[in-house]
This record gives sequence, C-alpha cells and structure tokens, in this order.
Amino acid sequence: MNKKSTVTIGDNIYDLPLIDGTIGPSVIDVSKLYGDSNYFTYDPGFTSTASCKSSITYIDGDKGECFYRGYPMDVLAEESNFLEIVYLLWQEELPDKKQWSEFSEAIKNHTMVHEQFKNFFNGFRRASHPMAITVACVAALSAFYPDSTNVNDLNQRVISARRMIAKVPTLAAMAYKYSIGQPFIYPDNSLNYTENFLKMCFAVPAETFKVNKVFARALDKIFILHADHEQNASTSTVRLAASSGVNPFASISTGFTSLWGPLHGGANEAALNMLKTIGDVKNIKKYVDKAKDKNDPFRLMGFGHRVYKNYDPRAKVMQKTCHEVLDEVGRSDDKLLEVAKELEKIALNDKYFIEKKLYPNIDFYSGITLSAMGFPSSMFTVLFAIARTAGWLAHWKEMCLDPKNKIGRPRQLYTGEKPRKFKPLQNR
Ligand code: CMC
Repeated sequence: MNKKSTVTIGDNIYDLPLIDGTIGPSVIDVSKLYGDSNYFTYDPGFTSTASCKSSITYIDGDKGECFYRGYPMDVLAEESNFLEIVYLLWQEELPDKKQWSEFSEAIKNHTMVHEQFKNFFNGFRRASHPMAITVACVAALSAFYPDSTNVNDLNQRVISARRMIAKVPTLAAMAYKYSIGQPFIYPDNSLNYTENFLKMCFAVPAETFKVNKVFARALDKIFILHADHEQNASTSTVRLAASSGVNPFASISTGFTSLWGPLHGGANEAALNMLKTIGDVKNIKKYVDKAKDKNDPFRLMGFGHRVYKNYDPRAKVMQKTCHEVLDEVGRSDDKLLEVAKELEKIALNDKYFIEKKLYPNIDFYSGITLSAMGFPSSMFTVLFAIARTAGWLAHWKEMCLDPKNKIGRPRQLYTGEKPRKFKPLQNR
C-alpha cells in the first residue's frame, strides 16, 4: 500500500511522503513542506522529530529494550567486550577472529599520546574538573594529528577514529592523575583496553599494580552500556557540528561538552550526590515529596528518560554490576545502596512516578558502582564519554557516508522585534 499523509493549511492540502524504517515508528517527511507552503514545523526538544536516518542503535522505549546493530545490548554487555562493540558500531558487524586480531592490535598501537601533551596539561589548574581538561584535550588532538583531519579521505577517517578510541582513555586517565597531583602512567599494551585504563588511573610508579579482574569486567560492561544510545543530545551535537565538515577531533569534542550537562551524562555524578544528600532511608519521603512538588526544581536524579517509558534495560545490568562490585569490596551492606534500593522501591510504587512513567535510568546505580571502584564522582562523566566516543564515531562515519548529508541548519519561529529604525546614542 502506498501510504501518504497530508497536511491542510488554510485552503491548501500538501502531500507528505511517509517513510518506513525496519522497525519502530514511520516518519512523515516534511523536508519539502517549507518550499511548498512557506510554513516551518515547530518541535522544541525534537520530541516528535527524527533528525536523520540511522542503522546503528534501536531503542524500544515502551518495552525498555535497546539493540546495537540488531543485537540486544544487555546480551552484549554480558557476553562481549567493549572493544568488540566499538568494532560492531563502526563496521556494522561483529569481527571474525582475523578482523578482531587486526583491530585490537591497531588500537593498542595508538594508545600513547604525543609527549608534548604533558605540557598542555600543565596549563590547567590542578583543581580543574577532569571533564574540563578532557574536553580541551580531545579538541586539541586535531593540533597533534593534523594528518588525519580530512573527513573526505577514507584512510584518514579510519585512522582518526582509531586514534580517538585508543587515546581518549589515555587522556582521561592523565586528566585524573593531573587533578590528584600524581605522575602520568604510560599505557601498558600487555593489558586489554579496560584493564589498561584502570592501570593508567590507579597505578603509581612506586608500587606494582595488579588489575582487579572484577573491576575490569564491571567497567568494561559499563562501557558497553554507555557505548551508544541513538540520537541523544551529545550524539545530535556531534552530528550537527560534523555536518559543517569540521575535522573529527573537533566534532567529537562537542559530544564531550554536551554530555557534561546534569540532564545527560552528568546525571550519574548528580545521582550519587543526591543519594549522599538523602543519606538515610528515613529521609527518602522528604525527597520524593520534593521531586513531586511542581514549585520545587528538585528532581530525582537517575530517574526518567525521554525515550524509555519502562525500566531502562541498562539500569537492570547496572544494578547487577553494582552488586558484583560491592561484593568484591566487601560492601554489600553499603548505606548508599540501601538508600538507592529503598528510593527505587518507593518511587516505583508512587502514583506520580507511575503516571509519568518515570523509572530508574542507567545513572541511578552507576555512581555507587564507580565510587566503590575508587573513582571520584568528577570522573563519572569522563568514563561515560570514553564509552560514548564509540557511538559518536559510528554516527560521524554514518553521516560522512550519507550522500544526502547536508549542513544542519534548523529554522526558528521568530518572536523578536519587527524591523525598526536605529537611533544614534545622542538621540536616545
Ligand atoms: N524527578 C521528578 N519528576 C520528573 C523527573 C524526575 N527525575 N523526570 C521527569 N519528571 C517529570 C517532569 O517534572 C515532568 O512533569 P510535568 O509533565 O508535570 O511537567 C514530566 O516528568 C516529564 O518530564 P520532562 O522533563 O518533560 O521529560 P524529558 O523527556 O524532557 O526529560 C529527563 C527526560 C531524563 C531529562 C528527565 O527525566 C530528568 O531530568 N531526569 C533526571 C536527570 C537524569 O537522570 N538524566 C539521565 C538520563 S539517562 C542518561 C542519558 O542517556 O543521558
């Protein structure tokens, strides 16, 4: 059946083509509407707008399911590893043994950063937020690797993507070490991706470092859970920035900045701070009431999601991972976990949260987990960004290869002054 939709504006009827995806809602193509009718569509926050076609990640928000390239993300978190997911997102398929060996070796070959980077760090105050430093470092990669900044060259695209996957953890660990006044630890290519990152964060030259395998596996899962989430704010920011043809390092750095906000990647830090503020099970009611109060800006951090109107599938894996890590550190009776579990129980049974379909999201349990592993809350969003770099790169590549790609240029509903006459200062 040839489906079509129409919009009637005054006496005129405009045909709007319908486009189907493989699954999920179809879209109404309004791209010609302005040219035909002189009307724009209006959708602040993109609540009803598909900004692009994409074949990377599919989220079923009602069922609470998420798939990377068709594979359920929770299965991948349990059975795969982060670097394999990076390959899957970029190459569209899981690697065979030969492809895996070539890819993982290539990433290892790029883990070091230019020695001059050390000087770059020295310009920052020691007390700087590690995210502030990492954002700047990722953008600065374009100054260090100008040989891989041409977005139209396939080889340069591949090398710049591999450089970012390999070097972002190194830069993130350096930002952390710098903020606590410890020497930088060079990458150790005898370790896997996540083990190496843990070593760069927690080893000191004076002592032998032994990777905690439970932490390494937990962090690897956390990276998988955060690797992509279709057209969220940071990914859309990367796409918009990259649509101008700017180099990939500059494009990906915009993802870092957008992710940093407390409503997006910064929510894990905010959720942990909130649990600390609540402090005790007996205070939960007060904070649930505050969250429900229209006149109080307080929200339950780690609750709610634009797309999930069911339990966030990432939160389920995260909750299990949280238990594994707390068992490992002998804190299965952790006070914050107790507060989190009770808060979740109360909110899930509360009319306000039920009616608004507000469920715990990935950030609800991730803060407790990362904190038990030894990360300060200021590093949480940085860890999210390391993982999401995989998704941003896959979206960037998809956009570069899309023959229909145009520079992003949203329009507006102008509500300012009508044209008026300028008066020189002496006449005002
Ligand atoms: N606590 C209390 N009320 C809430 C919450 C919350 N966490 N989240 C949404 N609401 C209410 C909100 O007040 C609004 O009520 P009303 O319809 O009466 O005005 C309604 O639910 C819809 O909220 P919204 O802000 O219009 O929904 P949104 O889709 O624009 O926002 C969100 C989604 C994630 C920004 C929001 O739920 C929120 O602020 N949550 C807390 C921050 C958080 O945990 N963010 C992490 C998201 S998951 C990680 C990621 O992917 O970045």
